[in-house]
Amino acid sequence: MNSIVNKLNDLKKEKNAIILAHIYQRPEVQDIADFVGDSLDLSKKVFITDAKTIVFCGIHFMAETAYILNPNKTVLIPDISAGCPMADMITVQQLKEFKSKFKNPFVIAYVNTSAEIKAQSDICCTSSNAISILNHTYSTNKDMDILFIPDRNLGHYIQKMSGIKINLWNGFCPTHNNFILSEHVLKMKNEHPQAEILVHPECRPEVIEIANHAMSTGTMCKYVKNSDNKDFIIGTEIGILHKLKKENPNKNFYPVTDLAECPNMKKTNIEKIIDVLQNTKNIVSVNDEIRKKAYLPISKMLNISC
Ligand code: 13P
Repeated sequence: MNSIVNKLNDLKKEKNAIILAHIYQRPEVQDIADFVGDSLDLSKKVFITDAKTIVFCGIHFMAETAYILNPNKTVLIPDISAGCPMADMITVQQLKEFKSKFKNPFVIAYVNTSAEIKAQSDICCTSSNAISILNHTYSTNKDMDILFIPDRNLGHYIQKMSGIKINLWNGFCPTHNNFILSEHVLKMKNEHPQAEILVHPECRPEVIEIANHAMSTGTMCKYVKNSDNKDFIIGTEIGILHKLKKENPNKNFYPVTDLAECPNMKKTNIEKIIDVLQNTKNIVSVNDEIRKKAYLPISKMLNISC
């Protein structure tokens, strides 16, 4: 392992590279990354880094977002097939048809979307800023019909929390929607009655209903650190457990289910990171016309939530 880490460090120096990893990445990938964070933290990091090359250990839309914010840098993704099924649940044609049903459509796009979809949207959000982006949108665009794409569960959650009526697209994250079920949560609560239940807002409404809190992965990590509680039931992709355990060795974490594993997030490994860095492989880019259009909703989001 030491020789791999040395090799990576040499390559990083040679290529002036930084390694960013999402919280759902494999433990060994998180351990060698320069920065581990949620979608919003990673976007912010990309915006301010001086490195010339960014190795994005996450899924394709995240690496694409990094490129859109930094077209003069080289963005590499260790596995080019690491996609997001939820992002694929809406096409540009479908979005155009959805918009055409409303008089004054205003589209809030979750960052889990392709560059083409972002280019057709008015503002982006991540799970950690979605409520504030919705509140801001509503207060500045009262006469608009707010459309939220593609995650129906996050959309349902922010609608409930804000009391603002929005029009939802019927997409979902298979990992959160299909594996984290209320019966699993109740079973864990029965086994660990003292534990606080934290879930991601991509979970089904009935799961969020029985949780103590719904929060983004980054907010979950901060919350646990600052809590006096010792036991937590965690309802999100199980990769987060590595960071939670590492940062809170005296606390106990119980995943709602071990099945909540995103197969795309797990495609990245250290060998692939070395390979893309060494050979400048899997360069992520977006054509300039789309990139300029997609930049606007992302930068609007960053201006509001920075
Ligand atoms: P976060 O914004 O909490 O990192 O979530 C990203 C994601 O894709 C969850 O499935």
